[in-house]
Amino acid sequence: MPDTVTATDALIKVDNLSKYYPLASGLFSRVRHYIHAVEGVSFAADAGEVIGLAGESGCGKTTTGKLLLRLIAPTNGYIYFNGIDVARIPSGGKLKAYRRQVQMIFQDPYESMNPRKTLYDIIAEPLAVHKIGNIVGREQVVADSLARVGLVPPETFMFRYPHELSGGQRQRVAIARAIGIKPRFIVADEPTSMLDVSIRTGVMKLLLELRQEYNLAMLYITHDLAVARYMCERLAIMYLGRMVELGPTEEVLQNPLHPYTKALISAVPVPDPTFKREAIPIKGSISRPVDPPSYCRFYPRCPVATDYCRENKHPPLEDKGDGHYVACYNV
Ligand SMILES: Nc1ncnc2c1ncn2[C@@H]1O[C@H](COP(=O)(O)OP(=O)(O)OP(=O)(O)O)[C@@H](O)[C@H]1O
Ligand code: SF4
Ligand SMILES: [Mg+2]
Repeated sequence: MPDTVTATDALIKVDNLSKYYPLASGLFSRVRHYIHAVEGVSFAADAGEVIGLAGESGCGKTTTGKLLLRLIAPTNGYIYFNGIDVARIPSGGKLKAYRRQVQMIFQDPYESMNPRKTLYDIIAEPLAVHKIGNIVGREQVVADSLARVGLVPPETFMFRYPHELSGGQRQRVAIARAIGIKPRFIVADEPTSMLDVSIRTGVMKLLLELRQEYNLAMLYITHDLAVARYMCERLAIMYLGRMVELGPTEEVLQNPLHPYTKALISAVPVPDPTFKREAIPIKGSISRPVDPPSYCRFYPRCPVATDYCRENKHPPLEDKGDGHYVACYNV
């Protein structure tokens, strides 16, 4: 078992986490089919650490983020937060106590906000839900949060509506809302991908500053490997529900070991003049993992697959040295 999983000082530790979705089937069909959206995912994050999660559309990034925050319930596996398993606490007081310590920032800030509510209501809502402070105290938290994300002076923003703001300002409101309850762990799901390129860096810088100030752990979901390089100490790569590689970001980008990561990096130019790679074509296209076979998920597209890969279970993530984990029999 990887030692990132057994580390005892980790803030959040995930062990063999899976989520299966039943596929809508015909009314009289007796066979149930399942999408294995996330399967056997294990890793750990320390306080103050940003872990990137990258991979093609549909590989299970958002599902992983929602599982970690218990916005959805896992099918299997464990999620330890401060050593306590939160994977299967039922809805109620304990789940609410957990959710008080974690927050999600979504890709589309507009969609995650009620357009009829003022910024004050939007930012104060988690405080009200968790009964933190009184009215006066909450107004102060809202003002401080607005100021902290650069929406100043806060009085001029508090009673405005989301539609009056630019995309970048709206994402700052989403961040203000997330930090109001002083969470310890944030999942940021492609928080800058819908913003103009010119304002992305400002939002990324803000998140890194907040990480520092609050010693926040963060799972940063992105398609963009250049963004991952800027934001994350470690980077995880997913393929069809499986984590196939995890390691220090530069190490994964400069010295990818899994055949899928190699192909992914060769296909996407990562802005760095020292990067020169031959493009490695991946045959076939990504599909949905419906009732997948137990052998390696990448087998149908893998350029270096052997019979052994097909005759054995999906390979476990193994440390190939210095915390560079890879799930492949041929590395
Ligand atoms: N609520 C749901 N019901 C059924 N299937 C779902 C549900 N949510 C996600 N899926 C499926 O699970 C798989 C993983 O989806 P997920 O949204 O986690 O991928 P993603 O990596 O976030 O993709 P993207 O980069 O497009 O955001 C996909 O095959 C998706 O169709
Ligand atoms: S285990 Fe085999 S099929 Fe899977 S990625 Fe490695 S070489 Fe390819
Ligand atoms: Mg997603």
